[in-house]
Parts: sequence; structure tokens; C-alpha cells
Amino acid sequence: SEEIEWWEYDDAAEMADAVAGDVQFIIESAIDARGAAVIALPGGKTPVPIYEKLTQAKLDWKRVTIVPTDERVVPLGDALSNVTMIGKAFIPKGARVVPIVPQATKDYKAAGKSADALMQDLHWPLDLCLLGVGGDGHTASIFFGADYDEALNGPKERRALGVMPDPLPPEAPVARVTLSRQGIVTARALMIAVTGDAKRKVIETAIKQGAGSNYPIGRVLADAELPVDIHWAP
Ligand code: 6PG
Repeated sequence: SEEIEWWEYDDAAEMADAVAGDVQFIIESAIDARGAAVIALPGGKTPVPIYEKLTQAKLDWKRVTIVPTDERVVPLGDALSNVTMIGKAFIPKGARVVPIVPQATKDYKAAGKSADALMQDLHWPLDLCLLGVGGDGHTASIFFGADYDEALNGPKERRALGVMPDPLPPEAPVARVTLSRQGIVTARALMIAVTGDAKRKVIETAIKQGAGSNYPIGRVLADAELPVDIHWAP
């Protein structure tokens, strides 16, 4: 993206306040404009305080549909399931959280196809895509590995696909379903929320490297059509 704006906070709680406020505003604007909001939210640990804040917001949650930016190919309810984590926070408020990998399956490509079909039914582009970033520079579940090129450069109608990271990430060593790069960069608003010096370095390097970055987040950012807000706390 031509425009990347950094927002820095004293701590994760302060970041959570600010990001939750921005997300609330984006949801309200989408509901005003289109009667509904469709947003993508990441799993992982960093967004937990953001979701705690956001669920306190007075919003017409019934008009909000949430898809995960990516999901681990595990049954719903599994401790590794992002939809389960996001659902715990938002379903009680009345939001719809789309379980993109509802079944136990070993066939991650088929899981990716059915996730894509589910997303094709939602209004598009996404009103918001909030991304996390891993210490290895992955974002959503765009990791290096066999399906890396497809996730980055697959057909532009493709919203989601199944991928097998290589190496498997130690925090969740399973196949994934992820938004494609196209699904991410076409969102009407693109935000990143990360903590810690290590991830900050990764993102700074990724931005410097641009389209040729050896970090997946660098390739995605180089392609973003809109300004990207990066929120960072120590
Ligand atoms: C996932 C995520 C992933 C996440 C990063 C950062 O399912 O793993 O959606 O892309 O955002 O791995 O995770 P942490 O916030 O836990 O460091």
C-alpha cells in the first residue's frame, strides 16, 4: 500500500480501546450504508482484549456477520478453533459467526472450497479485515508452504482456500483455511494489530522489502489498495 499509518500505544489495554473503537465505527458506518456489516477477525492471542472491549459496544449486533480471517482445520469446539474463540465472544451478543470449518476433516482442500462457497454468499468486499501477524511474518494463514503461491496469486474471485503450512506452526500444527490475499486486500478497511518488538521488526522489514518480501505480510501489504492502519503496543 502507498499509505501505511502506525499507531502506537503504551500497552495492550490502550491498544484494545482504540482498535475496538475503530472497529465499532466501521461496523456502524457499514450498517448505515448497507444495512449490515461483514467483517473478518483473526484468531490468536493478541485480539482477545480487543474482543473483550468490542463486545461492550452498543451495536446492532444482529446485523453483524463475522468470518475468521483464517481457521485451523479442526472440529468446531476444539481448543485450536478460531471460530470457537471468536464465537464465544460475539455469538452471545447476537452476531453471526460463520463456522467455516464445521466438520472434522482431513481434507483441507475440500474444507477450503466449502469455506470459499460460504463466503461467496456474503456481501463483498468485506467492510473490514483486521489482521494479526505471526513472528514468522505470516498473516491470516498465508504461510510459506505448498499452497503459498495459490493463497497469494490464485484466481481473484477466490475468497478462501485450504493451505498446508510448511513448516507447521508450533502453536497450532494443523492445516488451515485462510482468506486469500485478494479477499484481504479488497476489504474496505484494513487494520493490523500486533504487540511486541519482534513483530514490529518483522513488519518494518516486510514493508521495506515490499512486493518481493520474504514475509507473507509484506506481500499482502504491498498489494493493499487502501491505506492500512497498523496498531502496535509493546
Ligand atoms: C491464527 C491467526 C494468525 C494470528 C497470528 C498471530 O489462526 O493463528 O489468525 O494469523 O493472527 O498467528 O497470533 P497471536 O496473536 O497469537 O500472536
